[in-house]
Amino acid sequence: MGRIIDGKAISAALYDQMRQEVEQLERQYGRRPGLTVIIVGCDPASQVYVRNKEINARKVGLVSEVIRMPEETTQDELLAVIARLNADPAVDGILVQLPVPKQIDKNAVIAAVAPDKDVDGFFGMKSGFTPKHGYVAPCTPRACIHLIKTTGETIEGKHALVVGRGELVGKPVATLLLNENATVTIAHSRTRNLGEIARTADIVIAAVGRPKIITGEMVKPGAILIDVGINRGADGKLCGDIDFASAEPVADWITPVPGGVGPMTIAMLIRNTLDCYLNHVKKP
Ligand code: GUN
Repeated sequence: MGRIIDGKAISAALYDQMRQEVEQLERQYGRRPGLTVIIVGCDPASQVYVRNKEINARKVGLVSEVIRMPEETTQDELLAVIARLNADPAVDGILVQLPVPKQIDKNAVIAAVAPDKDVDGFFGMKSGFTPKHGYVAPCTPRACIHLIKTTGETIEGKHALVVGRGELVGKPVATLLLNENATVTIAHSRTRNLGEIARTADIVIAAVGRPKIITGEMVKPGAILIDVGINRGADGKLCGDIDFASAEPVADWITPVPGGVGPMTIAMLIRNTLDCYLNHVKKP
């Protein structure tokens, strides 16, 4: 029987701990950490995400601002706002919600955010998220590592399989697992014998966006399974990249979908903001 890694409960504990940390930081350094989110246009899903970020940032006590810009905003107008925030010492973290409207080059926007305020963790990949560079790791990969650690199991020396090689999750989470001294395999759509490889993995992180492609017979008994996928299954219900029904009895630990990685990502965005703040107050 697999034990459930409860992302909702784990994120609630993190929010509590960060709220106390923010109070203590304000006493120590005379200001609270600041997070500014920019949203351009009216993509409905983005509106919901940004609202959730704002609610949770406020809950923890951050100085949280959302800048809403119209759909027809030009790239220069957006870059000017980013430049102003880069120069503002009260802003520790800047997040430009993606996607941006088509007249704006996403890469130019990502590159314009000051690396020390990049709470999305886009800059860190180049330097492999080693502690000395000061950049933070992206939120979802960081959430995966945190969830594994809450089981109390060690990562060092284990065989970790990452299924998916995307820029936002697959590649960065593989790097973070290497930093934890796991032996890492990255599988993807062209991988042969995925089942054979998966059966040798002590940890599986599934991040391909294919409903239920990891099934119970592909799981090593006692494995830790982290499911990043959020898909609409054939039955219309939300499901992950892991077939929970067949994998759960074989695994030692498993994240549910929903309620696993999902609730953790915004908690990690706020953790990243606190880490950027700490870098700012310690190296002004
Ligand atoms: N839109 C959907 N996910 C993300 C994310 O992780 N970061 C940003 N900036 N925009 C997103």
